[in-house]
Amino acid sequence: MLQTTPFLLVLFLALGAHSLSVKKCILTGTWVNDLGSNMTISQVNKTGEFTGIYYTAVSATTEKIKKSPLLGYQHLPNLLSQPTFGFTVNWIFSDATSVFTGQCFMDGNGKEILKTMWLMRSHADNLGNDWKATRVGYNNFTRL
Ligand code: BTN
Repeated sequence: MLQTTPFLLVLFLALGAHSLSVKKCILTGTWVNDLGSNMTISQVNKTGEFTGIYYTAVSATTEKIKKSPLLGYQHLPNLLSQPTFGFTVNWIFSDATSVFTGQCFMDGNGKEILKTMWLMRSHADNLGNDWKATRVGYNNFTRL
């Protein structure tokens, strides 16, 4: 017991120092993606929920683009330094809905990057047009 105590103490201190030095990727803030779209994510609450505003640079419609609300979840516990997350954007200027899923990474230069994949469901006027109503793609976001 007397021999294991100093060992445990050193291990505890080493783990503590390591966790302090690991930079966490944090979702909260303003981000821009490879299409030029930007979004602002609010504080992530203690159950992992967050809200935000998405301002897309592109649209499949001819409607005037408007900032639209997003609602998401980050995977907790917060011990994870590169968490996964997902969110839905409810486009207020079109009939479409988009869902994004991804992971918040630290790159080799210590910069945060969100690697995401999305599905965008446009409105189909009838069942026969359902097959062409869902688009899929990738977006990378960096902090603005
Ligand atoms: C629409 O065109 O009906 C709504 C706007 C959709 C924008 C899409 S969502 C996936 C992709 N990533 C973006 O930043 N914008 C497009």
